[in-house]
Amino acid sequence: MSKMNAILQGTLNWVDERFPLTSLWKEHLAEYYAPKNFNFWYFFGSLAMLVLVIQIVTGIVLTMHFKPDASLNASGVPVAFASVEYIMRDVPWGWLIRYMHSTGASAFFFVVYMHMFRGMLYGSYRKPRELIWIFGMIIFLALMAEAFFGYLLPWGQMSYWGAQVIVNLFSAIPLIGPDLSLWLRGDFVVGDATLNRFFAFHVIAVPMVLLGLVAAHIIALHEVGSNNPDGIEIKKKKDANGIPLDGIPFHPYYSVKDIVGVVVFLMVFSVILFFMPEFGGYFLEYNNFFPADPLVTPPHIAPVWYFTPYYSILRAVTYPLFGIDAKFWGVVAMGASTLIIALLPWLDRSPVKSIRYRGPLYKGFLTAFIISFLILGYLGMLGPTPIRTIVAQICSVIYFAFFLLMPIYSSLDKCQPEPDRVTSK
Ligand code: HEM
Repeated sequence: MSKMNAILQGTLNWVDERFPLTSLWKEHLAEYYAPKNFNFWYFFGSLAMLVLVIQIVTGIVLTMHFKPDASLNASGVPVAFASVEYIMRDVPWGWLIRYMHSTGASAFFFVVYMHMFRGMLYGSYRKPRELIWIFGMIIFLALMAEAFFGYLLPWGQMSYWGAQVIVNLFSAIPLIGPDLSLWLRGDFVVGDATLNRFFAFHVIAVPMVLLGLVAAHIIALHEVGSNNPDGIEIKKKKDANGIPLDGIPFHPYYSVKDIVGVVVFLMVFSVILFFMPEFGGYFLEYNNFFPADPLVTPPHIAPVWYFTPYYSILRAVTYPLFGIDAKFWGVVAMGASTLIIALLPWLDRSPVKSIRYRGPLYKGFLTAFIISFLILGYLGMLGPTPIRTIVAQICSVIYFAFFLLMPIYSSLDKCQPEPDRVTSK
């Protein structure tokens, strides 16, 4: 052993006696046996981690220049809005950092939606992975809160009126509603107090929760092991050394494979970032280039694309019930549409996990669900008309039917037998 190697080994031993570095490395990377048949859909977990890092790093730099202040500067422009313009025009590379962060927000939701869809394709939420799914769902809710708080910060027209609409939704709750929305805003209208508390939540409270949850998500995953596109448990078939026959060490096999995903992702991300950062108004909305004006309501207020399916469900509820107005039931339906996803592990009664071996009923319901979700997302970007409302109502019924009828159709479905070992398809 060369002198250099001896020094490095000595240092590692010194650390290992005080901190389980080598055993952590082995347990989570070099000796974490993952199924050998991971496919395209398995890129999105590591990509979600990458985007999380991008958001945190660019967010820290933005925070160095951004000012959460709703008062007007000498030119009559809100200080917060002006500080974003300053980042875009005067801070060296500020435009890049800001566009990375705003494009990163949309990328985050895209990646997480693909990641969740993979779970639905291969039944990754089923026993023994229920807790991974629950942690994932809490991550998803925290991510939505993070995006909502962040969107207010540039203090443009859509920031302002979007926050106004969403916080006002809480006032639909009987009895406590009006006081609750006042408490959330910290003022009678969205104002400086709202901007400051949203800033605090966006830059520290929610990111800390997110990081903790992602750690819990991975620890739970590594406790039970990964699912795979065949939906069978590789731990059931082990060799004499206790290593799953269909498992390969995560490092170097998947660490290297994930780099391919990262490179392709960064290429697509860069094209959007450099050539269409506003993405035709879907990532950064036209109206948000105007400073917030409490006296001028924009003609059409819609959330960013990743919220629009739920916003459509909110607007689809147009009938009062039990003497409580439709707005309240709309809020209930919107909340239920996100929370119900968490119940999947207990709604699914199929004898198999993966879509590969499921029958026509599940495939049909899943297709109808995805189409409804996309239509709801599209409608949520448009203003309501009577026809659009009816379409949104039909799609909302399909959305909920997918979940509520699942115990029935998933147990009736004609499934194929699962293979003994993973296949190489
Ligand atoms: C910040 C967001 C998230 C990050 C960084 C993240 C990260 C990861 C990583 C690295 C893996 C292992 C690699 C893989 O299987 O792709 C994984 C697996 C998993 N994640 Fe996430 N995740 C996030 C959000 C979610 C959400 C929102 C859900 C669902 C509600 C979810 C559900 C799952 C499930 C079920 C697995 C196990 C998949 C399997 O073994 O087939 N995750 N996650």
